[in-house]
Amino acid sequence: VTPGYDAFAPRYAELVNQRYVVIELSYAFVLDRLGPVTGKRVLDLGSGPGELARRLAAGGAAVTGVDSSREMLGIAEDRVPKGTRLLEEDVQALTTLDNASFDAVAASLMLMDVPDFQAVFRAAARVLVPMGTMVWTITHPCFQSPHSEPIDDGTGVLGHRRIKEYSPTWWRSDRPGTVRGELGAYHRPLSDYMNAFIASGFDLISVAEPVAPSGEDLQPDQVSHRTLPPILGVEGRRKP
Ligand SMILES: C[S@@+](CC[C@H](N)C(=O)[O-])C[C@H]1O[C@@H](n2cnc3c(N)ncnc32)[C@H](O)[C@@H]1O
Repeated sequence: VTPGYDAFAPRYAELVNQRYVVIELSYAFVLDRLGPVTGKRVLDLGSGPGELARRLAAGGAAVTGVDSSREMLGIAEDRVPKGTRLLEEDVQALTTLDNASFDAVAASLMLMDVPDFQAVFRAAARVLVPMGTMVWTITHPCFQSPHSEPIDDGTGVLGHRRIKEYSPTWWRSDRPGTVRGELGAYHRPLSDYMNAFIASGFDLISVAEPVAPSGEDLQPDQVSHRTLPPILGVEGRRKP
């Protein structure tokens, strides 16, 4: 479904192992907003190397991870505890999952990978119980927009960002080796995401724009993450 993730899976797993700041901010947000998960049935959409699934399972959840990349699923298999279910599935359809069969759904940093992001919200609403929680994160569409780049803030530090485009488009970063340099991304304005989420049957509960912790050791091109949020996190509740 997403060409490229099989080849990129080992590198992505490395970023996860190195606790790459953007990925850690996403996991922290998702785990915080899901709250205590003991005994809950949690679906992790685009589960990748399985680290979020592992943390959810460690918290006592019955976790199902869904991903379309066999390579990612293979890596996740070695990371998650026994009893965690991993499925090869398209998150835009979730055809193998029953209606109202999950208490919570997580989608960490994956909606920028799918052509039809509203289909993901609709599928999530279908498999959630009424009043079930969905928590999702994306790279922040206002700051990680197409071809945006870190720039000198006037002190020799790459503390600012130049923003170049905002309308919906598929794009690929020109920075090789990065997730978006290798795989590209679908960019959509913030309002498109929020409106699609609400139109799919969710009440909005909270929104977060976390920044990198001040003590965090950052690469020069990540310094702007201290002031300009690299991710957007959203929590919603499926309507009764
Ligand atoms: C950037 S990775 C995020 C992985 C993980 N959620 C995390 O936050 O570390 C995006 C993941 O979504 C998966 N993915 C992309 N499109 C998908 C689709 N249509 N159906 C299922 N998985 C998909 C990719 O294979 C990849 O594992």
